[in-house]
Order: sequence, then C-alpha cells, then structure tokens
Amino acid sequence: MSKIAIGGDHAGFEHKKALIDYLTSKGNEVKDFGPFSDASVDYPDYVHPIANAVEKGEFDFGILICGTANGVAMTANKHVGIRAGIAWAKELAALTRQHNNANVLCLPARFISMDVAKECADAFLTTEFEGGRHQNRVDKIPC
Ligand code: RB5
Repeated sequence: MSKIAIGGDHAGFEHKKALIDYLTSKGNEVKDFGPFSDASVDYPDYVHPIANAVEKGEFDFGILICGTANGVAMTANKHVGIRAGIAWAKELAALTRQHNNANVLCLPARFISMDVAKECADAFLTTEFEGGRHQNRVDKIPC
C-alpha cells in the first residue's frame, strides 16, 4: 500500500473525492491537499505543496487532477525531484511508471470518467519502474 498526496483544482474536485474514497478503501494512506470545494482556484497553489512533499519523501506518490492535466503536470515538473506523467488510460499510467519512473500521476478530469481515473490510479500504483535503459534516460531529465 502507498502513502499518497492528492490535489489539483476545481475541475478535478469530484474526481479527487471519488479517488480518495476508492484509494483509502483499498488500504492506501491518502492526504487531501485540496481544493476542498469546486470553487475556482489556481492549480499551482495546490500543486507546489504536493510536489514539495513528494520531493522530501513524505509521500510515495502524488496524484494531481485538473481539467486537462496539463497545468498540474507543467507545475509539478518544475520541481527537479518530480517526474509527473499524464494519463488518460491505464496503459499510459502503467507506462509512465515502467519507463519514466514517474512519482506523480496527472489526470484530466474533463476527459476521463471516474472509472477510468480509478483504473489509471490502480495501474500507476501497482507498476514498478523497469530501470535498465530507462534509468539512463531518466537520469538525463533534470536540468
Ligand atoms: C480550469 O478551467 C482549467 O484551466 C484547469 O483545470 C486545467 O485544465 C489547466 O491546465
């Protein structure tokens, strides 16, 4: 089971609630970083605290949800210790762990159902990094 930091913006609020219930029921420890309503907010205000906490090792993984996943991914990936991958299908969620050793999953709430969000989270949390040639590539990401 994993220790997970979750957050995003107003567009991801309903998906976030559903994911927290789902992941908690499966035995994960999930901390909600907000937002705590569907009122309009600026996603960087919620993403930076999660990225800092994952970078510090306080959580195994982060899950970020906004409308398209782009804003949260762009923000999270400004942190040198974060590898945030976007997924809209379980195969992509698994591959960003296998190939990119992603430590943050970014989901586009306006383009995926709750069920697909849950499938993506499951795939992400249960897939290991392959290492090998992918380790060489991941080592070259920071700048
Ligand atoms: C909010 O309207 C929307 O811009 C945001 O959720 C996200 O898609 C940004 O990348």
